Amino acid sequence: MSTTSIVTIFAICVSILLVIFRWNKGNSDTETKLLKLPLIGDLHSSPLDKPLLNWDSWARDNGPVAIPKLFGIIPVVVLNSYDAVTELFSRRSQWYSNRPASVSMEMITDDKSGQSKFTLMHDYDEHLKLHHRILAPSLGALGSPRYRPLIVLESKQLLVDLLNAVRTSPGEISTHSIFPLLERTQASIILALHYGLRIADCEQKILHDVIDIQTQITHVAATPAMPDFIPLLRHLPAFFSPWKRAADKLYAAQVDLYLRLFNHGRQSPGWNATKQAISTAEKSGIDKVPDLDIAFNMATSVQGGMETFPRQILWLFIAALHRPSFVTRAHALLDEVVGRDRMPLFSDRAGLKFIDAIASEILRWRPIAPGAIPRRADRDDEIDCIKIKEGVTIMANAWGIGRDAKVFDPALGDLDDFVPERWLRVVDGGEEKLMTELPLPVFGQGRRMCQGKRVATDGLYMQIASILWAFDIEAADGEEVDPWEMVVAGFMTMPREVKFRLRPRGDWATRVIERDGKDVGKALDAFLGVVDQGEK
Ligand code: HEM
Repeated sequence: MSTTSIVTIFAICVSILLVIFRWNKGNSDTETKLLKLPLIGDLHSSPLDKPLLNWDSWARDNGPVAIPKLFGIIPVVVLNSYDAVTELFSRRSQWYSNRPASVSMEMITDDKSGQSKFTLMHDYDEHLKLHHRILAPSLGALGSPRYRPLIVLESKQLLVDLLNAVRTSPGEISTHSIFPLLERTQASIILALHYGLRIADCEQKILHDVIDIQTQITHVAATPAMPDFIPLLRHLPAFFSPWKRAADKLYAAQVDLYLRLFNHGRQSPGWNATKQAISTAEKSGIDKVPDLDIAFNMATSVQGGMETFPRQILWLFIAALHRPSFVTRAHALLDEVVGRDRMPLFSDRAGLKFIDAIASEILRWRPIAPGAIPRRADRDDEIDCIKIKEGVTIMANAWGIGRDAKVFDPALGDLDDFVPERWLRVVDGGEEKLMTELPLPVFGQGRRMCQGKRVATDGLYMQIASILWAFDIEAADGEEVDPWEMVVAGFMTMPREVKFRLRPRGDWATRVIERDGKDVGKALDAFLGVVDQGEK
């Protein structure tokens, strides 16, 4: 067939598809109302402003392994119990560690099927294993002594920012108005850890460049386009394909940003994950790992750390407004262990298990990614007499697993309630122990589980301890708090806007924040400027 005929056939196909696409767009109002969460969609028929209200009863009614059909056509396996997810994602992990194909996600990194440079979407092959090894020394137990001072300093800066916000607009604090402050804090921790880059304030351009690209990527991942339904479309030349033109543009923007950040990391004076990755890659025995691949690996991790955490910690405020009794206990403990003349530290952690219990309960009670990130079955299989077809999409219901009565004892508190005590047990000698053996399903499970779990739980400990040490969190006059109300952002949920009062717990808190916050900027710059903090 001549080139002209191929192009003509393509052109006809595209015209037909554009008509279909426009028709779909024309009907998108009804569709968006129905599809409240990617994948979960409308299966459980919850109201729009409370998208998870009926999700748990849906899971209970459908059993540990359910196979609903999306749009009544596409089967999706939903794992509703901890046993089921452990069996498939951990014990049989060799068949459940890949992601479902996402043509759009491959197009935006100019890659073939299963080979997205965005490592979250890459198949679990030798390439991905290498990139996991490259990242692990920075995010795991080995890396934590290096990044913890950052988390402490940024938590101090967060208290300064919150105090300023309270002073500038007393009575006007809301989950939405403090969100940028939480976002800056986490961005600064994550960008410093990966590239030695500090984000001093919310206006910094690089912060918005990063957030803008991340928002575009999440939109692509959460909103399938025509090429995801008709993969052949990916081969259309850019001239005929609006999808290819958009993907090429986003790819070019990513390459530009990620290489800028990568070079910043490589040239910064102190230790950071980029330098660590380059050094680990050199020792890996692989000839030369391309800079661009390392740059995308870092960027994937940065996105994992920045997009999730600030949304997750917002639920602390909702929990405090909904169940204030746990705040009273935390205040008493913080006074006893930390006192009123300094802010909390990591060295206080052994005495502050209740703070870690609050963090774990936030992750269980309101997992921001209730359906986690989906996987793909790589063989025909069977579990609990239910057949799983090769190629089918599988999601772990993090929300339901956190309410699995076989794992979380309902006698310790209704599973829909916020009860941090369920994470503590009194052991011999009367001491309280944190139940680290209980699962945190929001981080996923098995080979693909979140690599940044330790950075996230360290950050939650320090930020929760700092916020509760400094502030009383009180309902604003006339404001009703309904913890079921939430909005959906990509794969994630966050509380709908709630107004509240944030009040320093006393003059002592204001005095310490002002005293210790004064030099945080200088301390952070000095920390990031240290020539060698031990990278070997
Ligand atoms: C509350 C905070 C966080 C939540 C809820 C979260 C959640 C997740 C989830 C659900 C996955 C996919 C797991 C699976 O498929 O089983 C994931 C993967 C990942 N996360 Fe996180 N994450 C958080 C924080 C972080 C942080 C702070 C970092 C980095 C410092 C990070 C880096 C990563 C990376 C690199 C992956 C990719 C693993 C892979 O697909 O091979 N995450 N995360």
